[in-house]
Amino acid sequence: MTEQKWADVDAYIADRLVGADDALTEMLAANAAAGLPAIDVSPPQGKLLYLLARMIKAKRVLEIGTLGGYSTVWLARALPDDGIVVTLEVDPHHAEVARANFQRAHVAGQIDLRVGRALDLLPIVAAEGLGPFDLVFIDADKASMPDYIAWALKLSRQGSVIISDNVVREGRVIEAASGDPAIDGARGSFDLMAREPRLDATAIQTVGSKGWDGFALAIVE
Ligand code: SAH
Ligand code: DHB
Ligand code: MG
Repeated sequence: MTEQKWADVDAYIADRLVGADDALTEMLAANAAAGLPAIDVSPPQGKLLYLLARMIKAKRVLEIGTLGGYSTVWLARALPDDGIVVTLEVDPHHAEVARANFQRAHVAGQIDLRVGRALDLLPIVAAEGLGPFDLVFIDADKASMPDYIAWALKLSRQGSVIISDNVVREGRVIEAASGDPAIDGARGSFDLMAREPRLDATAIQTVGSKGWDGFALAIVE
């Protein structure tokens, strides 16, 4: 299988099951025009986040790593009217683009976007009592993944779901001595999920329009 074929199949899945959506299409165009990297989740993955949030009837969602807000909009759309996504982004330019996207997609009222380093913002989120969150989506700097899992646990309740993106990285996750902090972060998150008795987890490899990667999925006991 070539990467082109992975992308073609993603396009087929999106065509059949995700559907054309002006707001999301415009959002990706706005991100590209603003110079944001195209590292958002793919359309089928965005819909997966939406479906998982719906399946657990999530009302409170925490996202770490907003970029232009593509995954944020998918998550917000899964929520009831009184639901909220708290999303954390370190780059003010990304945050500005995301805010405009939230307005355009008519979900701004359900999104609480905070700008700063996630490890600085998470104690504030905790102190403000914005949790416990039903679902946490971790998708920021990969080196901090273990710290984010630990924070997600602190801000969770029994039954909360924690999803981390980019845990496979073209298979490089099995390189114990990669010297790459992003790989060490992914590996550290596996170690934490393995030894933490409050987490029951798996990881799924994915191919598609964003190449070969994967996500980890855990439930809080
Ligand atoms: N979730 C998005 C993609 C996020 S890309 C989507 O699927 O649409 C990762 C984002 O994390 C980038 O915007 C980057 O600026 C942000 N980021 C990197 N380090 C961060 C940190 N320490 N705190 C918060 N955000 C961070
Ligand atoms: C990167 C970040 C992501 O969240 C992603 O899905 C793909 C790549 C990156 O920082 O390279
Ligand atoms: Mg990602």
